Amino acid sequence: MKVLVTGGAGYIGSHTVVELQQAGHEAVVLDNFSNSSPVCLQRVEQITGKRVTLFKGDVRDACLVNEIFARHKIDWVIHFAGLKAVGESVEKPLEYYDNNVGGTLKLLQVMKAHNCKKIVFSSSATVYGEPERLPIDERCRVGGTTNPYGTSKYMQELILRDVYRADNEWTVALLRYFNPVGAHPSGLIGEDPAGIPNNLAPFVAKVAIGQLSEIGVFGNDYETPDGTGVRDYIHVVDLAKGHIAAIDKLTESGVYVYNLGTGKGYSVLEVIRAFEKACGHKLPYTIKPRRAGDIAACYADCDKAKRELGWQATLGIDEMCASLWNWQTKNPKGYNS
Ligand code: NAD
Ligand code: UFG
Repeated sequence: MKVLVTGGAGYIGSHTVVELQQAGHEAVVLDNFSNSSPVCLQRVEQITGKRVTLFKGDVRDACLVNEIFARHKIDWVIHFAGLKAVGESVEKPLEYYDNNVGGTLKLLQVMKAHNCKKIVFSSSATVYGEPERLPIDERCRVGGTTNPYGTSKYMQELILRDVYRADNEWTVALLRYFNPVGAHPSGLIGEDPAGIPNNLAPFVAKVAIGQLSEIGVFGNDYETPDGTGVRDYIHVVDLAKGHIAAIDKLTESGVYVYNLGTGKGYSVLEVIRAFEKACGHKLPYTIKPRRAGDIAACYADCDKAKRELGWQATLGIDEMCASLWNWQTKNPKGYNS
């Protein structure tokens, strides 16, 4: 199948393009490189030995998106393009709603005009807000998001549901990712955050390589086994494969919601210990106050994806840390190394 991948040069997008190509699909990438590097796509080509068709531009540029659909018979769209920094979204809500919600609206309008009605949307565990229960299944309450980023994801899910309600020919897959970490085993592609990372795993990797002095653990007084926050970390390659499972398996129209995680939670201290094992030395950390907006624990019930898509995560925390360390050491300055 020919798949338009918006945001295909980004962290999850690039790993998904690799899996698409390796599964025999053809990827057409649209990316404005606002949070990525063209080098990433060269690396994707190096891994797969196949060319990536690239359109450089913005998903909100209806003329450009129109041109893509005119030139390519697109079967599916996988829509990653968007802004994703929770803290920044609080400072810049208009940019976030414009890019994320505005981008999705424009994309859907052009898709409709070209009669392409199959979309996989990058949603997030963040739509569950404070989880109703643990593990979180797809029937748990959504909404109650606490920042514009999370709210934009929730709004985009609602828009996609309404699109289906108005026209039952659409196939909409809402994939709710838990915490993607790790890198491709080749060490050629991985997460390359600009500046100081906000997320735990890339922060830990930068401490391990000596670019940052110590890890700050945001709170050790949560109601979790060791008091630190618990999350469901998922290897980015497993996550990427979840997208292939969705486009391969979802042959009937409808709205489908799946959690993509491992079903297992790890605390911040457990992640640090797993990373110490991967990099072979102790990592300095200090306990800091809780980070505003954080919840104690978040991990998924992924049975639905297993049952309906035949997908389940296969890689554990050790593989996640080892692959991240491999990427970090081979590319100490990311794609600018
Ligand atoms: P990323 O920033 O690495 O990738 C996003 C890509 O989209 C980048 O290459 C960026 O340049 C591009 N982009 C952004 N706005 C664009 C626009 N208007 N037009 C064209 N391209 C644009 O992020 P990621 O971690 O790969 O995340 C991909 C998607 O998954 C995002 O929608 C994100 O919200 C969602 N998600 C990510 C996580 C996570 O922890 N990484 C968790 C849940 C959901
Ligand atoms: N943490 C630290 N120190 C750090 C960074 C994080 O202790 O320097 C802790 C957090 O408090 C939390 C855990 O590590 O307990 C994970 O934090 P991350 O920032 O890595 O991830 P979050 O769970 O906060 O959020 C991520 C993405 C969101 C997404 C969510 C669920 O940033 O966009 O996963 O998918 F919505």
